[in-house]
Amino acid sequence: MCGIIGYVGNLSAKEEILNGLKILEYRGYDSAGICCFYKGELKLIKKKGSVDTLSQVCQGQLKDVHCGIGHTRWATHGDPSDKNAHPFLSENNSVAIVHNGIIENFESLKGNLQKQGVRFRSETDSEVIAQLLQKSKCESELKKVQELSNVLVGSYAIAILFKGLENQIFAIRKNSPLIVGKSPNGYYLSSDVNALIDKTTEYHIMDEDEIIWIDNNDCYAFDKNLQAKEIVYKKMDLDKQDISIGNFEHYMLKEIMQVPTAIKLTINECDSMVNPFTKLPKDMIKNLKHLTIVGCGTAFNAGMTAEHYAREREIIAECVYASEYRYRKFLKQDNEVCVFISQSGETADTIEALKIAKEHQIPTIVITNVATSTINKLADYIIPTKAGPEIAVASTKAYNAQITALYNLMDYIYCIKNKINCRTCILKDKLYDVVDKLENYKFDNIEELAQDIVNTERVFFIGRGVDYATSQEASLKLKEISNIHSESLYAGELKHGTLALIDENTIVIVIATQKNLFDKTMNSIYEIKARGAKVALVTQFNIDCEAVDMLIKIPTTDQMLMPEISIYPMQMLAYKTAVLKGLNPDKPRNLAKSVTVE
Ligand code: F6R
Repeated sequence: MCGIIGYVGNLSAKEEILNGLKILEYRGYDSAGICCFYKGELKLIKKKGSVDTLSQVCQGQLKDVHCGIGHTRWATHGDPSDKNAHPFLSENNSVAIVHNGIIENFESLKGNLQKQGVRFRSETDSEVIAQLLQKSKCESELKKVQELSNVLVGSYAIAILFKGLENQIFAIRKNSPLIVGKSPNGYYLSSDVNALIDKTTEYHIMDEDEIIWIDNNDCYAFDKNLQAKEIVYKKMDLDKQDISIGNFEHYMLKEIMQVPTAIKLTINECDSMVNPFTKLPKDMIKNLKHLTIVGCGTAFNAGMTAEHYAREREIIAECVYASEYRYRKFLKQDNEVCVFISQSGETADTIEALKIAKEHQIPTIVITNVATSTINKLADYIIPTKAGPEIAVASTKAYNAQITALYNLMDYIYCIKNKINCRTCILKDKLYDVVDKLENYKFDNIEELAQDIVNTERVFFIGRGVDYATSQEASLKLKEISNIHSESLYAGELKHGTLALIDENTIVIVIATQKNLFDKTMNSIYEIKARGAKVALVTQFNIDCEAVDMLIKIPTTDQMLMPEISIYPMQMLAYKTAVLKGLNPDKPRNLAKSVTVE
């Protein structure tokens, strides 16, 4: 969703900001804009559409500028248009701002300002920030910025330029990330560390309510009472390779091919000297009676997979959509621990759900892929996944990394509760076997199945037990990037209604990896075949059955870890289908990489 870039230094601010916005494109956006100090004024250029469109409009303009702010916007308040694009200038053009997040009390703030005669130019919540700063009676700009935290309700990462304070940027954040990057060529601000990788040698993740003041020569940090703070920079540990597309046609393809590495690096993280599990209080784990797992979309599906694994490890777990957790009647369980899963660590629903758990004094663990994320700042304990930056909107390698981390967590809990030495746990070896199998997997028949799907009306994915969780993820992948309607079902539920939709224009993809459930699932296959649908079966078992039109044979591994393998051809299936349809799998319609609004 929205992205912020700021730059102060000796390079062209226009180029630095436009390059940064280009990197942020993957997050999803509908308009883009830039504002720089130019001949003593705040020069603003913004456009509905792509960063390339903005770059074209900027051609020949903003020469010799060394400080500015830029933004990519995903519409929330007000339609995607030039006037609703960021940055916003205050009424007298003395203040420029860009904002990520939501100002929940903007209507009352706007009403008050309008009563004082202030005229607004957009329908957004964000514009109110520029107008408030212009109206502020505080004696210094720093105090004006500080005052925002007393007035604004909601989430915000804001970068600000004040006319007259040439080559200076102010910034403040709450519940929305903002990162300062330091380089020999100046300072950068970004809402996403990926935009800083190639530019900076060190970075600093702003704390909640922190205020930053960057000028030509230095960067200063203050807490919410304007007490100066020391900035402790971290060395930039990401590589440009991590965010480049390399020789791949799409990021999604690159990321599917990186699945084995994502699993491997996450196993190593879980097994490292700084093992994240050792930070979990032993008593909390020993006494744990109920594990609530919360996430959205793919992260939820990873949680559902873990719910089944937990059961095998005698842990009572319940997986809940974050958007439901937030609003359902809250019932605290005895000795409950909550696990929040989020690739980006910025998903609004998941963050709000975590805050609710904290309000009820429930210990919170996050499983997240982005070390700089908001959710990491809020959680009690962090289990990092090591999938590396995920650029394609559809999550693939992060999903496998999430289930890898979750398996490790469940085994850790099991070992502590049963007084087993965790070092003797053989999960690591089993997971290495998964990596090995995936590295050598050939995706046989996937192109052919994708071809069939392109020409069909309906696709169902079915499975029993943990295979249902995989079918849910497979279905989500297919619908989000190929725009083909698909649904996932527990195999045993078909006959309770959905069978009515099964006919010769339907493809049913059956996932069957659990030996004890295999025969039952085969019964469903016969039911489907009798209604004329085409059946594809994803399994590691050798079968020869006329009712199966296409066999997607997958390698075998420990039965409980089969979800790591069975999802792999399904990720590729979604990718191939989108490509065959002529769609860009990296940028599906209506979707953004991180959903920072409710
Ligand atoms: C699907 C997908 C989404 C995300 C969901 C949660 O491919 O990417 O369903 O999984 O929006 O995002 P995170 O994990 O960033 O909280």
